[in-house]
Amino acid sequence: MDFEAYVELKEPLQENEMREVDLDCGSQGKKKVLLVKQKGVLSALGSKCTHFGAPLATGVLGEGIVRCPWHGACFNISTDVCPVCLIYLGDIEDFPGIDSLPCYQVDEVGNNKLRIKASKTDIMAETRIKTMASRNPKIENTFVILGGGPAGASCAEVLRQEGFQGRIVLVCKEKQLPYDRTMLSKTLDSKIESIQLRTQDFYDNHQIETLLGTEVTEVDFEKKQVKLSTAVTLPYTKLVIATGC
Ligand SMILES: Cc1cc2nc3c(=O)[nH]c(=O)nc-3n(C[C@H](O)[C@H](O)[C@H](O)COP(=O)(O)OP(=O)(O)OC[C@H]3O[C@@H](n4cnc5c(N)ncnc54)[C@H](O)[C@@H]3O)c2cc1C
Ligand code: FES
Repeated sequence: MDFEAYVELKEPLQENEMREVDLDCGSQGKKKVLLVKQKGVLSALGSKCTHFGAPLATGVLGEGIVRCPWHGACFNISTDVCPVCLIYLGDIEDFPGIDSLPCYQVDEVGNNKLRIKASKTDIMAETRIKTMASRNPKIENTFVILGGGPAGASCAEVLRQEGFQGRIVLVCKEKQLPYDRTMLSKTLDSKIESIQLRTQDFYDNHQIETLLGTEVTEVDFEKKQVKLSTAVTLPYTKLVIATGC
């Protein structure tokens, strides 16, 4: 951790209180940090929702979670790591956001004085991507995801986040990478690049194959394979049907 700064609180943080504070990051300016106290434990996280940047301090604090006031994305605020689902501080737990919050080490070092430690990269970041497993070519299991809307795209990502190391193929008849379809009726002049959920580099880096402009024309559940509009037959171990409505 190569960044350290101090925050003086005017009043101590109360149990079940969230408060946004300014952190002086020197030449990089000021950074807002969300402080949360629950069960006597203090946490420090990014202050803005990773979806559209709502101030989380005005959201709803539940047990171990904060829920965004705008569209309800939910983030873990507990410093205990769940041994079953491996959810860490700041991890996203509910959509529509897809990224987690950056989080920092916080210690009480005096009367109403806190020390915040982080890496310089993390302290300026607005979002954090959960750790993703790498593809292991020795694992032959293949997930075929039929449909490249937000459901299909989230499924592909979450598989890697949950440690799946086999092959993932996302097949979509649209030519575009998965995008936020809800924006189509909000910003009518949206450019596709600005509403894409992830870049092609993201999918390449996490070895998620994207077959765009490709329709699944037939599913053979007996043989566990799908036929594509490109005349290719694709075998699967598991099939996810996320074709929307
Ligand atoms: C203009 C508009 C505005 C919206 N605004 C809002 C909003 O404000 N709030 C809100 O909550 N929701 C909104 N929605 C709804 C929201 O976009 C959907 O709920 C969401 O996109 C559903 O995601 P999905 O991944 O399940 O399905 P979809 O987004 O429908 O994605 C399914 C994908 O599967 C592909 N597909 C289908 N069949 C095949 C096949 N045989 N082979 C290959 N690919 C296939 C489709 O081409 C599509 O890309 C809006 C929708 C639209 C169209
Ligand atoms: S801004 Fe938080 S869920 Fe949309």
